[in-house]
Amino acid sequence: MASPASISHLLLLFLLLLLLLLPYLAISQSNIAPGESLVAGDKKSLPWLSPSGDFALGFSQPDDKSDSFVVSIWYAKIPEKTIVWCASDTSKRPVIAPRGSKLVVTADRGLVLNDPGGGIPWKSDPIVSAVAYGYMNDTGNFVLKGRDSETLWESFDYPTDTILPEQILPNNGILSSRQSATNFSQGRFRLRLQDGKLLLRTINLPSSYANEPYYTFPATSPSVSVTGISLNDSGFLNSLHGNGQMSPLRTVSGKSPGDNYLRATLESDGVFIQYSHPKTGGNWTIDWLVPENICKTGQEKGSGICGFNRICRLDVNDRPVCECPLGFSVLDEKDEYRGCSSGPDAFVLEEITSIDWPTSDYNLLQPFTEAECKDSCLQDCMCAVAIFRDNDMCWKKKLPLSNGRIDTSLNAKAFIKGRKDGFPPQTPNPPGPNDDKKDLLILAGSVLLGSSVFVNFILIAASCLGVFMIYQNKLKKFFEDESGMDINIRSFTYKELEDATGGFEEELGRGSFGIVYKGVIAIGDSRNVVAVKKLDRSFQESEKEFKTEVIVIGQTHHKNLVRLIGYCNEGQNRLLVYEFLSNGSLASFLFEDLKPSWEQRAQIALGIGRGLLYLHEECKTQIIHCDIKPQNILLDEYYNARISDFGLAKLLISQTHTHTAIRGTRGYVAPEWFRNMPITVKVDVYSFGVLLLETICCRRSIDIEAGNEERVILADWAYDCYREGALEALVEKDEAALNDMKKLERFVRVAIWCIQEDPALRPTMKKVMLMLEGIIQVSAPPSPFAFSTISTV
Ligand SMILES: *[C@@H]1O[C@H](CO)[C@@H](O)[C@H](O)[C@H]1NC(C)=O
Ligand SMILES: *[C@@H]1O[C@H](CO)[C@@H](O)[C@H](O)[C@H]1NC(C)=O
Ligand SMILES: *[C@@H]1O[C@H](CO)[C@@H](O)[C@H](O)[C@H]1NC(C)=O
Ligand SMILES: *[C@@H]1O[C@H](CO)[C@@H](O)[C@H](O)[C@H]1NC(C)=O
Repeated sequence: MASPASISHLLLLFLLLLLLLLPYLAISQSNIAPGESLVAGDKKSLPWLSPSGDFALGFSQPDDKSDSFVVSIWYAKIPEKTIVWCASDTSKRPVIAPRGSKLVVTADRGLVLNDPGGGIPWKSDPIVSAVAYGYMNDTGNFVLKGRDSETLWESFDYPTDTILPEQILPNNGILSSRQSATNFSQGRFRLRLQDGKLLLRTINLPSSYANEPYYTFPATSPSVSVTGISLNDSGFLNSLHGNGQMSPLRTVSGKSPGDNYLRATLESDGVFIQYSHPKTGGNWTIDWLVPENICKTGQEKGSGICGFNRICRLDVNDRPVCECPLGFSVLDEKDEYRGCSSGPDAFVLEEITSIDWPTSDYNLLQPFTEAECKDSCLQDCMCAVAIFRDNDMCWKKKLPLSNGRIDTSLNAKAFIKGRKDGFPPQTPNPPGPNDDKKDLLILAGSVLLGSSVFVNFILIAASCLGVFMIYQNKLKKFFEDESGMDINIRSFTYKELEDATGGFEEELGRGSFGIVYKGVIAIGDSRNVVAVKKLDRSFQESEKEFKTEVIVIGQTHHKNLVRLIGYCNEGQNRLLVYEFLSNGSLASFLFEDLKPSWEQRAQIALGIGRGLLYLHEECKTQIIHCDIKPQNILLDEYYNARISDFGLAKLLISQTHTHTAIRGTRGYVAPEWFRNMPITVKVDVYSFGVLLLETICCRRSIDIEAGNEERVILADWAYDCYREGALEALVEKDEAALNDMKKLERFVRVAIWCIQEDPALRPTMKKVMLMLEGIIQVSAPPSPFAFSTISTV
């Protein structure tokens, strides 16, 4: 029995409890109670923040001009909006909400998006019991909690194109790229964890049919079952195993947990990238990305990375750039990856039943309607025939069509494309019931000759073939124009070159492979100044096929390489003819005359780096230069750095891989040359490092007159200055460099990484470029002289 006194006691106790709980109630203000809402486009409606303020949930406007919004989560402290999640339908299409739409937390249906017309374009299904509150967690996860704080729904379970630390992508989980940075529509790329394998695929938009993977993450171990992948705070992408353990798929060293925001995003160009961003400010930097060269990936079916008829090339950041061949134009300006077409279409489709060319398809769209299928073939210049089958499959086929046959057992319609003018559409003759017996009939001329279908087909095939050939010609032209010349290089007689150089009169320089003379050669009507290099004796004994190697050199074109025009291979005489560059060598530019500006030096260093990167990784046959030094870098009329003498070292390295004939040049050669270690691209990286230091400091790598003793060897002195934090000494009174300390330090660090004695520690040229351009951070280099005693002077 409760007396009035005990009731008042209870009340007092209750009030006390309430008082005690007040501070906690205040903290939990980041709980979003049912009924609270946000309005799209309303400046007064503030997004829901996580307790630390790191993440926000609200409406974003992907493209400032339009009036469409998406419900999304972003980093609230990073000025440049970076969205990590948006509300999407079950096929991963983001839900677009018009201005005035309202996002509400409700007790019975969870998070609900209401549009101004009273529709519900999206809600957070499924909700099994009453929602007590919503909560924007500091991990970037928006959760709906029940009365016992059980999780009813969380945004982490519905990833968009990004995974965050602590988020798990379960088996069969999918990330789907966006259309572009400003269009959040479904893009062409997907990442999926399937049976423990992480796959990257293209899909045949506008359907969701996925092609063969263009990239598969190397499996950690085939025997363990993988239940998911996740990114952890220290930057490891781990695969989680059934037994509760995990193993790293990709690792990044040097990221201290908690100091950086991390994310891994499938970008709209199909590259999967792990980024980090210091919490204190700065920019997103790329920690790693796959595939390393997306342009070199390929699938049998589907349009490839860039779309049909396009050409893919990598930019310096390893991101694909999609271009149309000359004469082609982009199908859709807004969608860079949709492909190119050769002109306005003037085509019609003619329908024929029960006909098939089972082996000529290049693209499958599924699920797809008949109307979508026809439209897609009309829009696509490569499509000659579309077969619509089983009510949801659209197979597009291209010329030449092979193995054609009548097959009445198929539940299919064929649509054959023809030009509007030229072919008035005709009523086809569908095979009658008496055709049933000839179930499979090879489409042979004798059977169908004379029927309108066949005549039409031949005409269509002929006209399409014409279009195809024009396309091929344009493609060829494109490649020629791109390189600026034909691939063929010219063969000269010794007499011609003797005349051209006036009997080898004017000497331009003496390099490690021979003497260079100035000459003039008439090509067509024009007289061209050239540099003729007379290769020295060692080339006469070379067992390698001179002409083969010279053709390889002749096919190597890059704006940072000196172009080979021709050669002479006559008896004992071996000569090479190069374009003439007016501004001489980098050696005279740096060490003599007027010193170039800091800006010019930085540009030159980047140019040399790009040229080397091309030789190492981008041209058809990998070329190790083996003799990078300032005498071999020439400057064109705009002071662009151009590497010369590439490809020659290979002629001197004999089949047995000994390299006695090449000795490199003192001060620039990597230690491998003396140590009987294998010669790899890393020897060039070493020489580049020395050259980079010379370019930064405007002095030779070994300079006996450089004041006191510790300055004689540039590498030693530079490392000492770096270690002691005295980089100013390296550039003396160069104001421009002193005002650009960040770049200066970056360059010096890269150079020290390049001159590491252990070749394995030296970065690749690709990494060097990323570091020089400031795209990835340069960690502090160790002492380059780890193995030797030089540094103990
Ligand atoms: C926020 O996330 C952390 C880490 O996953 C978790 O421990 C915590 O319980 C979450 N908070 C809520 C309210 O769900
Ligand atoms: C985004 O891309 C889709 C598909 O290509 C297109 O239909 C839509 O109009 C685009 N939206 C904007 C705002 O450009
Ligand atoms: C991240 O994962 C790696 C590799 O699985 C592990 O060694 C490391 O301890 C993890 N770090 C954190 C902070 O969980
Ligand atoms: C971030 O990048 C922008 C533009 O790319 C640049 O202007 C800015 O200086 C960078 N900030 C930092 C701290 O590196």
